[in-house]
Amino acid sequence: MKKIRSQVTIAIDGPAGSGKSTVARRVAEKLGLLYLDSGAMYRAVTVLAIRGELTTDSPELLEQVKACHIQFKDNGKTILLNAEDVSHQIRTPAVNRRVADVAKIPEIRHEIVKHQQRIGGEGSIIAEGRDLTTIVFPNADFKFYLDASVTERAKRRLAEFRRQNVEITLAAVEAEISDRDEKDKTRAHSPLRTADDAIVVDTTDKTINEVVDFIIARVSEDKSTSEK
Ligand code: DC
Repeated sequence: MKKIRSQVTIAIDGPAGSGKSTVARRVAEKLGLLYLDSGAMYRAVTVLAIRGELTTDSPELLEQVKACHIQFKDNGKTILLNAEDVSHQIRTPAVNRRVADVAKIPEIRHEIVKHQQRIGGEGSIIAEGRDLTTIVFPNADFKFYLDASVTERAKRRLAEFRRQNVEITLAAVEAEISDRDEKDKTRAHSPLRTADDAIVVDTTDKTINEVVDFIIARVSEDKSTSEK
């Protein structure tokens, strides 16, 4: 395991399918950091909306978000919503379709950001999502913005769906990703954007391991973060 200073915050942002989750999880494993999948938290809240048949801006949904407990286990692989394992449910097409609408509600974001900052305050962390480098951890030690072409990102998502035996076409996934990009980048609150001090990585022609190695090299070569 590489050595880095005892408390470090690494924040990664980027659009759907840019490889953030897989990359962040592997970096977390290699560096011994806690992995925070912020998108999973918005997805869990979307499950609440779907189950309760609640509109995204309803006061009932906000109350449920305030009252709910979201926990991660197994280095971010398992997410518990009020102690129930919803790891599979949060990846269904129904949640994919609604999550951007839930994530644009400022009061819901406010609650989730508080939760993320609390987790970040507890120790070294690598966190990824849409506003981690800009809003949640603006003073992160390292910031990365991962990107890739829409077609490449759709192909990656399609492979994920195939593994889960979800029937969907590449065209449908591409349309869904373009739609989500548009919503994530143009929403009024905390839109997806590249932080001025983020390192931009185009992952279109890169393997996961190449991106992981690049990030670890940047984090490790920085003298100020190396353990003396
Ligand atoms: O990364 P993902 O596909 O699991 O994210 C799901 C949705 O949640 C996506 O539409 C954007 C939103 N999101 C957000 O608004 N802010 C974050 N920090 C993470 C995700």
